[in-house]
Amino acid sequence: MKKILAMLLCALLVVSCTAALAERVGVSMPTKDLQRWNQDGANMEAMLTEAGYEVDLQFASNDVKTQLDQVENMIAEGADVLVIAAIEGSSLGEALAMAKDEGIPVIAYDRLLMDSDGVSYYATFDNEMVGTVQGNFVKDALDLENADGPFNLEITAGDPGDNNARYFYKGAIDVLQPYIDAGKLNVVSGQTAFDDVATPTWASEVAQSRAENILSSYYADGTNLDAWLCSNDSTAQGVVAALDANYNGNWPIVTGQDCDIVSVKNMIAGKQSMSVFKDTRTLAAQVVKMVGQILAGEEVDVNDTETYNNNVITVPSFLCEPVFADINNYTELLIDSGYYTEDQLK
Ligand code: BGC
Repeated sequence: MKKILAMLLCALLVVSCTAALAERVGVSMPTKDLQRWNQDGANMEAMLTEAGYEVDLQFASNDVKTQLDQVENMIAEGADVLVIAAIEGSSLGEALAMAKDEGIPVIAYDRLLMDSDGVSYYATFDNEMVGTVQGNFVKDALDLENADGPFNLEITAGDPGDNNARYFYKGAIDVLQPYIDAGKLNVVSGQTAFDDVATPTWASEVAQSRAENILSSYYADGTNLDAWLCSNDSTAQGVVAALDANYNGNWPIVTGQDCDIVSVKNMIAGKQSMSVFKDTRTLAAQVVKMVGQILAGEEVDVNDTETYNNNVITVPSFLCEPVFADINNYTELLIDSGYYTEDQLK
């Protein structure tokens, strides 16, 4: 009898220890306002739970202080690994120092965490390649190699607080600058430098009001606009809204990134010409794999150890490949793959 009781006690202990030992992953996302972060968060939560982890998923309403508090709470509540998509790459220093002190590994998700040695890994899509794909699209659509031009172009870039934004801009401008220099592409507003074309917090309204100003100042006299290079879908949506209300010429080429539902609908309606598909399922799966490798003490899967220096360290990174999307391939890419249903795009 005693033996049975002892065995039962042991079994009980093992069960409760295993439950207590379920490893905890804190996942901090910037905001629920943008479709992509909801998907990133939901995919990661589902995959991490499926892999047997406890998940603490928080969204920070695009407020830097809220994100800092949320990450500090995750640390206080015993996170074993943190996955963070920062609102502003350089604003989480205090929390990252705390994580480092406590030996908690941190994976920067999609956006690099800057100015800190408390970052262990970075997982993202190849950000410069996103810009290259956008730049090449404009180049090919206007046939810049062969056509005489000149063509008129405007540019809208991303948030200066997001390290990705300069990579997107660089990838695209490197393709287009030679044509600007040669006079084949004319930026009528004269606004080409990153700081002049950036969009704080990537807000559609900010992109829209800058586009409205440009359209009324430089295009109201009937000047034709051939292309508007936008770094992502939220800024493209702002630009499209401005064009809808303030522009009567031939509809320009408009680029984007993320394949947001609104932007895919705009693509179907002929108002946005392309987007860059960054399948959030791919990135989430990669991060879940990295979390598992970290916690098992295994070698962590990275494919770039040179590109992403955060001003303190070069962060070992895994870069997923972004994919070009337009009206011709969106069905296969987005519907056949199960990313969206046909109804969501109606
Ligand atoms: C992401 C983009 C996104 C943008 C705005 C960037 O850091 O890489 O996919 O469109 O933030 O949220």
